[in-house]
Amino acid sequence: MNPDQTRTPIVDALNAYLGIVRFHMPGHRGGKGADPVLLSVLGERALAYDVTGVPGMDDLQEPTSCIKEAQALAASLFGADQSYFVVNGTSGAIQTMVLATVDIGDSIIIPRNIHKSILSAIILAGAKPVFLPTTYHPYLGFSLGVEKGALEECLTQNSDGLRSKAILLVTPTYYGTAQDLTDLSELVHLHDKLMLVDEAHGPHFHFHPVLPKPALQCGADAVAQGAHKMLGALTQASLLHVKGQKIDGARIKASFQYLASTSPSYLLLASLDAARKQMAVEGRELLDFAIGLAEDLRKEVNNIPGLYCFGEEITDHPGVDAFDPTKVTITVRELGITGYQAEEYLRKEHGIQVEMSDFYNVLVIVSYGNTPEDVNLLVDALRDLVNAVAEGRVPKKLLKCHESIHQVPYLPEMALIPREAVQSPWERVRIEDSVNRISAEVVTCYPPGIPILYPGEVISQETLDYLEGVKHLAFGISGPEDRTLTALRVVKKT
Ligand SMILES: Cc1ncc(COP(=O)(O)O)c(C=O)c1O
Repeated sequence: MNPDQTRTPIVDALNAYLGIVRFHMPGHRGGKGADPVLLSVLGERALAYDVTGVPGMDDLQEPTSCIKEAQALAASLFGADQSYFVVNGTSGAIQTMVLATVDIGDSIIIPRNIHKSILSAIILAGAKPVFLPTTYHPYLGFSLGVEKGALEECLTQNSDGLRSKAILLVTPTYYGTAQDLTDLSELVHLHDKLMLVDEAHGPHFHFHPVLPKPALQCGADAVAQGAHKMLGALTQASLLHVKGQKIDGARIKASFQYLASTSPSYLLLASLDAARKQMAVEGRELLDFAIGLAEDLRKEVNNIPGLYCFGEEITDHPGVDAFDPTKVTITVRELGITGYQAEEYLRKEHGIQVEMSDFYNVLVIVSYGNTPEDVNLLVDALRDLVNAVAEGRVPKKLLKCHESIHQVPYLPEMALIPREAVQSPWERVRIEDSVNRISAEVVTCYPPGIPILYPGEVISQETLDYLEGVKHLAFGISGPEDRTLTALRVVKKT
């Protein structure tokens, strides 16, 4: 029998706890001792609900009551065998699943343009990354998905010599392009490996037929989801789902315990409980509304000369089977400005903050929390942006030479696993003196957002030439301690 998804066990337990006289942490004692500034920010109720795992509530590490029930409700709704409530972000969920499935010295197959939490998971696990090529959209300027042939080649090439346990794929992308993982999961399982999925941007896929197929329905063994990103949970609150018998339940529980706080915030846990109930009860209608709003926005944007917003046609591109219409990518390159400039203009001149921008695009996420008025304001602001560029109020900074930055060098050789590289003694050397040294840091230039160096990789002359050539063209350098790229952190010679 399906459990009653209208229940909210954690919220109920909190409500029952409100009358208790507290002689326990946190020090503000349900708000009575809180500084007025904090009280004015959070309000009395939020502070009254700010408890942790005291008797009377539950223990996130060894749940037996309200958390256990709430996690079981989530597992049933998402079609998992076990779901975990994660309070340290989707990063925490990703780290848990990698730590639970990969042994020291094992390799893990990943695309190169992963979120930094996957690198930190690989460092924690002491694993060796093996990189899988992804498709790339040259006009939009971002990476898409993985082709089956490329995965097959990678699995066959690495079938001996390297002990690879798992493949970790990222779908959907930040921009909402998605892959149906059914075939890829079959292939991965045929090779006796695990399919792990970073579905940070797709927890809502379960709740509307127009949205891409969720990874759990495509044969994934474990899936990390950002409930705070695309559902209504509080910031940081995330989910980890496990399905099937391939992953050792005791090991995933142990990994969860290694990484989870022993004092989790019940505000975060209650928000996961409520977000799950909201989706179960009215997810379809709420998402109908959000998708409708997003489609209106997409249509309006595509009517503004100089702007483009991809739709269904993106699925013609290799590495894309479906897309999430609530992610609206507004491509501004025909205006001759960068996405970064557009984002800044919208914030400074119109008080509108988008989700993020890159070289050619601004990314807008439309949720059921938005209104038609929000969309109208954004459309008016975009029209004004186009006029501002035409009138020279926004300078055209998109230079042709920036295109060279997309020609990233060939994969460097990996001499040490990332964990050894970051945990070994290191030194800073001038970039021109770093050739043939082993990088102790990751270096990513934006665009294209694909790491040029991972910790443990040998710095070749080709990589150096690329970095020298593009460091003044990049709009952002992420990873290295010295973001001017004058010096690089390298592993000390022994
Ligand atoms: C694809 C992807 N995975 C994982 C994460 C990590 O999520 P969190 O910030 O919740 O730790 C992010 C964050 O933006 C992300 O975009």
